[in-house]
Amino acid sequence: MRCQLIISALLGLFLTFHININDAVVFKFTNFVCESYNQSWFVFHNYRLKAVSRNKVLLNANGTILHPVNNASVHVRIFKRANGYKPWVVDNYFDVCQYLRKRNQPIANIIYGLFKDFSNLNHSCPYVGLQTVKDFYLRPELLRLPFPTGDYLLALQWYFDKKPLADTNVSFTFVEDLMKRN
Ligand SMILES: *[C@@H]1O[C@H](CO)[C@@H](O)[C@H](O)[C@H]1NC(C)=O
Ligand SMILES: *[C@@H]1O[C@H](CO)[C@@H](O)[C@H](O)[C@H]1NC(C)=O
Ligand SMILES: *[C@@H]1O[C@H](CO)[C@@H](O)[C@H](O)[C@H]1NC(C)=O
Ligand SMILES: *[C@@H]1O[C@H](CO)[C@@H](O)[C@H](O)[C@H]1NC(C)=O
Ligand SMILES: *[C@@H]1O[C@H](CO)[C@@H](O)[C@H](O)[C@H]1NC(C)=O
Repeated sequence: MRCQLIISALLGLFLTFHININDAVVFKFTNFVCESYNQSWFVFHNYRLKAVSRNKVLLNANGTILHPVNNASVHVRIFKRANGYKPWVVDNYFDVCQYLRKRNQPIANIIYGLFKDFSNLNHSCPYVGLQTVKDFYLRPELLRLPFPTGDYLLALQWYFDKKPLADTNVSFTFVEDLMKRN
């Protein structure tokens, strides 16, 4: 009985602590640059960021894949800003179609988990036709990496049949604790 009380008190404390951490985080897009390297396979129609409040920025993008793709990979790199962007921890290639079948890559899981609810890209291969990302914003509660406060660049280089297809580069700010900033 007493033990249970202590456990629920600890759990209560833990939950409060957890919620406070999430409230104190800023995690938002700051820049977004895209470029297609093969316009006969993929064209961007539109890509932009839109700030809807101080700490919430929506990412919208669309483009058309002109021929079905069954063989796609992505080079994922994260850079952290410190006198220019410096490589930071993540530098991996993923086989996109294999990943979508197995969902077994922790880093890809985090990135995919952040955006899958906002995009029609959330299915297995093949991909063809209009691809959209709509009103995507960053949710710190889904981030399970220990990020230090800073400005980052997530550079995604896409390859179809091992040939460079497009870049989608997003920059974002992560602030661990609002109180420290003021
Ligand atoms: C995306 O970022 C990478 C790494 O900094 C860079 O090499 C590439 O040129 C960038 N692409 C675009 C379209 O800005
Ligand atoms: C561009 O895409 C087409 C398919 O639409 C493909 O046949 C061609 O090899 C690609 N070119 C390059 C340089 O990757
Ligand atoms: C792409 O998005 C823009 C902006 O939301 C929209 O105006 C346009 O109609 C879209 N293009 C297509 C082909 O759906
Ligand atoms: C895919 O995204 C749509 C919204 O674009 C959502 O309604 C759907 O539940 C998502 N499917 C999966 C498997 O996540
Ligand atoms: C993807 O295409 C490349 C180039 O054609 C080929 O070397 C590779 O084996 C293909 N991968 C898969 C999983 O089919």
